[in-house]
Amino acid sequence: MKQNVSTANRTLFMDHTVLELDHIPETIRFRETQINTMYQNIRPAIRGACPTNMILQGLPGTGKTTIVKHIFKEIKETNIHILPVLVNCQIMQTEFRVFHKIYSTLFHQEPPLHGVSIMQLIDAVATKFSRTGDVILICLDDVNFLLHENTMEKVLCTLLRLHEEYPGIKIGVIITVNTIDAPITNHLSKSVNSIFRPNLILFPPYEEEEVRAIMQDRVRVGLCPGIISPDIQDTIVEKTMKECDLRLGICLLKSSADLAESDNRTSITQTDVGASLQTVREIHLQTADKVLKEEEQQMLDMTIKLIRQNGNRMNSGELYQEMEKLVPMCYSSFRRRINKYSYLGLIKINRPNIWGNTREILLRYDTHTIKK
Ligand SMILES: Nc1ncnc2c1ncn2[C@@H]1O[C@H](COP(=O)(O)OP(=O)(O)OP(=O)(O)O)[C@@H](O)[C@H]1O
Ligand SMILES: [Mg+2]
Repeated sequence: MKQNVSTANRTLFMDHTVLELDHIPETIRFRETQINTMYQNIRPAIRGACPTNMILQGLPGTGKTTIVKHIFKEIKETNIHILPVLVNCQIMQTEFRVFHKIYSTLFHQEPPLHGVSIMQLIDAVATKFSRTGDVILICLDDVNFLLHENTMEKVLCTLLRLHEEYPGIKIGVIITVNTIDAPITNHLSKSVNSIFRPNLILFPPYEEEEVRAIMQDRVRVGLCPGIISPDIQDTIVEKTMKECDLRLGICLLKSSADLAESDNRTSITQTDVGASLQTVREIHLQTADKVLKEEEQQMLDMTIKLIRQNGNRMNSGELYQEMEKLVPMCYSSFRRRINKYSYLGLIKINRPNIWGNTREILLRYDTHTIKK
């Protein structure tokens, strides 16, 4: 329902849902190539064959999940023999949770969370769907969260080899990865890679003009006319470009409008944007914090402290030496954890353009915005 800013019960939002992060826009801009390639890879499923597996790779906020959801929605509406399953690996971080999600999506009912084994879940799914001729299309979204304890390898190995035990089952796998460091397939064994054979689809960061256009769409549909000036939109675009994350820009827009509205004003100010930036960054950090175990969190705190003391950047060898004085650990555990922080977007690892293992480690956020 359209609202006017000047009504007694003022709201600055015309439709606040379009500023939510799970909103799937009617038009997904600047991603035609990626969408077309994905449709081509899925096409064999229309005639009951296995689709081409895919890796969607790009930094956070480059549209990977949005496009998967968009395509899955269309498949659900148009083809009853292709069964899409979206697994959010940030939430489903264990092998059991992944197969639990696959089971509950395909059977439209929850198996018990306890007292049932992974094997029983797999067997129920595979027995049924090896007979129906349907094609299961599974997206492991944010698969980086399955890198611990070799979970990604185990899950992919089971899914891709299921046809050996259950002839007739047809499965396609899409994984999304939000880092652009080493190829994710480096974490897979040769035997899994040899069946996986994914088509890599890259999601480059949006250019400034693309961010501006996407934000303008949201402003036009989400906010009442005239509440945000072109200058302030420019500021939001500038901050978005600086953090390299469209999601931050959308959150910033919503949070700034919320602030202005709660203050009973009819327009967003630069102060609203400044105050929101702090909140939006902290929310991102808190989300990442939740997926760290206690000892990982403690090491992250020490890492941040050490890097800050060293002018916000350190090379990995120096950091290890200092860290080891505080918490004795072998180099490979240290490196595993540092990689995890990087996968979560909490730190940045630069690889200087020289041979050798030296990596430069930087904080991804201004020092004052990282708490603790
Ligand atoms: N091309 C686009 N057009 C319109 N909105 C977009 C586009 N790309 C991304 N968005 C919006 O940006 C936000 C982030 O997109 P999305 O969640 O798809 O990113 P992602 O690549 O999956 O990020 P992550 O790797 O962190 O999961 C969403 O709110 C989405 O609606
Ligand atoms: Mg995503």
